[in-house]
Amino acid sequence: MSGQKRQLSKRCVVLTGAGISAESGIQTFRDQNGLWENHRIEDVATPEGFARDPQLVQHFYNLRRAQLLSPAVQPNPAHIALAEFEKTFRGEFLLVTQNVDDLHERAGSHNLRHMHGELLKARCTHCSSIVPWQADIELLSPCPRCHRSGSLRPHIVWFGEMPLYMQEIYDALRQCDLFVSIGTSGHVYPAAGFVEQARAAGARTVELNLERSAANSFFDESYQGLASVMIPQFFAQVQHPGA
Ligand code: APR
Repeated sequence: MSGQKRQLSKRCVVLTGAGISAESGIQTFRDQNGLWENHRIEDVATPEGFARDPQLVQHFYNLRRAQLLSPAVQPNPAHIALAEFEKTFRGEFLLVTQNVDDLHERAGSHNLRHMHGELLKARCTHCSSIVPWQADIELLSPCPRCHRSGSLRPHIVWFGEMPLYMQEIYDALRQCDLFVSIGTSGHVYPAAGFVEQARAAGARTVELNLERSAANSFFDESYQGLASVMIPQFFAQVQHPGA
């Protein structure tokens, strides 16, 4: 990445995946020892799995939530560099994350959309309220809004469910001149297809990942390495309008 020319951007969309949080101690999904190596997606990440065995699914996400809240898990230099970039960028900036952790928020990112939901929220299947949630969700936990017990589920978009904020994300992709994909394996749609939308809009498309992703061939530029090293370097050379 060194020796890159500074390039002007006025509208930037960044997509992040599990790889950006790996160095904060959160397991990715598809790497060696990733979450999907020890758990079946059908069991813990589908509405059908939840209907079959809600206790197993709540337990899976209760463990993830407790881990996220442990003091050892903190934003790393990649999260921080993105938040700093957003603060100083004089164009339009949208950060879309597939991650359900809150490390981007903790690092100070603002214009952020969690397209796959948020671990620190619960959703009521009875009244549809979405509420902040830090404790375990028990089978009979009552909804704080409608008080029905046993109606809470993790606010997570499971396989077969519609990701969130899609209209807004596609609008931003249609208008962006820089699209950067960070720490995602490119196996899960619709996120894996964002690069094609950005290309169609004429954007410069850049992949920053530990390895070449499944969507690698769609990117103009692709760099392999650790997010904590590459993200600060890459965003230091993006030129702002009027800067
Ligand atoms: N720096 C950069 N990239 C990394 C790092 C790191 N330190 N560590 C791992 N990676 C890369 C891996 O090489 C891999 O390509 O991050 C990618 C993580 O890929 P996945 O585990 O598949 O995670 P992600 O792409 O975010 O998954 C998408 O799938 O299971 C669903 O809903 C879940 O949001 C998730 C979606």
